[in-house]
Amino acid sequence: MSSSDMKIVTVIGSGLIGRSWSMVFISGGYSVKIYDNQPGQAANAIKEIRKQLEELEEAHMLKGELSATQQHALLSCYDDLAPALEGAFFVQECVFEKLEVKQGVFQDIEPLVGKDVILSSSTTALVPSRVFSKVQNRSRCLVSHPVNPPYHVKLVELVPHPETAAAVMDTTHALMTKVGQVPVRLKKEIDGFALNRVQAAVIAESWRLVQDDIISVKDIDLVMSEGLGMRYAFIGPMETMHLNAPEGLEDYMKRYGEGIKRILTSFGPVPDFCGEGSKSIVNEMCELIPSDRQHLTARIERRDQLLMSLAKLKKDN
Ligand SMILES: NC(=O)c1ccc[n+]([C@@H]2O[C@H](COP(=O)([O-])OP(=O)(O)OC[C@H]3O[C@@H](n4cnc5c(N)ncnc54)[C@H](O)[C@@H]3O)[C@@H](O)[C@H]2O)c1
Repeated sequence: MSSSDMKIVTVIGSGLIGRSWSMVFISGGYSVKIYDNQPGQAANAIKEIRKQLEELEEAHMLKGELSATQQHALLSCYDDLAPALEGAFFVQECVFEKLEVKQGVFQDIEPLVGKDVILSSSTTALVPSRVFSKVQNRSRCLVSHPVNPPYHVKLVELVPHPETAAAVMDTTHALMTKVGQVPVRLKKEIDGFALNRVQAAVIAESWRLVQDDIISVKDIDLVMSEGLGMRYAFIGPMETMHLNAPEGLEDYMKRYGEGIKRILTSFGPVPDFCGEGSKSIVNEMCELIPSDRQHLTARIERRDQLLMSLAKLKKDN
């Protein structure tokens, strides 16, 4: 089968993100070939995915038009790279977040695929110009950065390499939309992309407010979950401002811009997240949720259930 059929996606790496991406692609009817360099790992991933598909189907939360059995039949697993890439038009890399590992993986992939095959990385923190520096034809490369877990959180940041072709961004945007994700385009690469830069700003000010004894760990989390987060699940900061003044964004800035600037100039320096001062914050968090596996797993399950309910609410609105 030629890659021009655009029916086969290869997922490289079958950990947390590789499995979740595979579920996203099969939900859209694509055949997914999963490759992992640890023998047996891709096969284990397929077993795990079957369990998850069945649970989702039972909870009426399975994505797409196909049944769990039909979606599962679209999966195949490989311990060798070449057959895993055969026929694919799109490759989603999900290996460890280590520059040399990712560079090596793309170096191995490039000679095994046709020149039009799109090479996409799931990296969280590495810019495309570094990830793809050892690829010869970089016009077909980009980062498609998911949010964990991509099956329940739809945002995907599409980040181009300086040489990425516009058509590659367009095809990836269309693919992501087709499988039910919500892609956003960055116009150029930047450290942290958009999501993690905004997240870092929120983390830094939350940390400083607790460290400066202005508010507790529990209450700063409530500021987000019961305050800002209530609307941010549906509208972003730009629309929030636009709606919060009688005549929209310009009016909002006339009214509140000076106040926002005053607050911003009072922000402290970048916190030392691991220094002596961080210990009391960590202890406060661990008193609320102990950091042993059992407690964390229970909270992760709760988070995923809540995300599923939120996804359903967003779908119905
Ligand atoms: N976990 C998250 O919250 C999250 C969110 C967004 C993006 N990401 C990114 O997704 C990528 C994968 O993260 P993860 O959490 O799934 O990691 P993981 O450790 O769960 O899985 C990595 C998998 O890659 C396999 N692997 C390692 N080297 C390989 C190679 N050379 N060839 C083939 N397979 C190889 C491993 O055997 C393992 O199964 C990372 O780049 C990470 O930054 C993670």
